[in-house]
Amino acid sequence: MVLYELPKPPYSYDALEPHIDKQTMEIHHLKHHQSYVDGLNNTLEEIGGTSHPKYITSILSDLKSIPESSRNKIQFFGGGYENHRLFWETMNPNGGGTPGGKLEDSIDVYFESFENFKEIFSNYSLGIQGSGWCWLVFNQTFNKIEIITTQNQDSPWSLNKIPLLGLDVWEHAYYLKYQNRRNEYVLSWWNVVNWDYVSNRFSELSH
Ligand SMILES: [Fe+2]
Repeated sequence: MVLYELPKPPYSYDALEPHIDKQTMEIHHLKHHQSYVDGLNNTLEEIGGTSHPKYITSILSDLKSIPESSRNKIQFFGGGYENHRLFWETMNPNGGGTPGGKLEDSIDVYFESFENFKEIFSNYSLGIQGSGWCWLVFNQTFNKIEIITTQNQDSPWSLNKIPLLGLDVWEHAYYLKYQNRRNEYVLSWWNVVNWDYVSNRFSELSH
């Protein structure tokens, strides 16, 4: 069986300072993300899985194919693996600003303006009770973008939606620096969003 490995963020742990601090990045990546990778590998081994890492999104899109006794664990660890992999990619020290191009056009269509989109997305993030994620997703069925939230490590892929941008609002993502002030974390995170990456992802999917 090919094991999943811990995906490396494309920048150093202190690169997102002051918005996301070095210690949070280190623990988030080396401890939390690693634990999802390990949990995913262990669970796949339990059920004799032979899936290649490339196909994690296929697994998340078709959880019914996983034996019921292990399904929750795959949903949790597999989601945690993939959600965090995307999270690192969608941030960048030179991030922030606006998406521009086709994605911004689409945001204007569905959310009136980028500023309005930011406000709605932020409000959704703040409204999540307990642990979860806020997402900008692409709904392939209707060829449109949407904002959704998921609990715990649930993945948009399991809802038949493709995540373009995700914000981790688990306390482990911000508590060291922001304590209970999730609103400050969310506000600061916009400064490191890698819109180039998110826009490219969108361009590949939409038509
Ligand atoms: Fe996390």
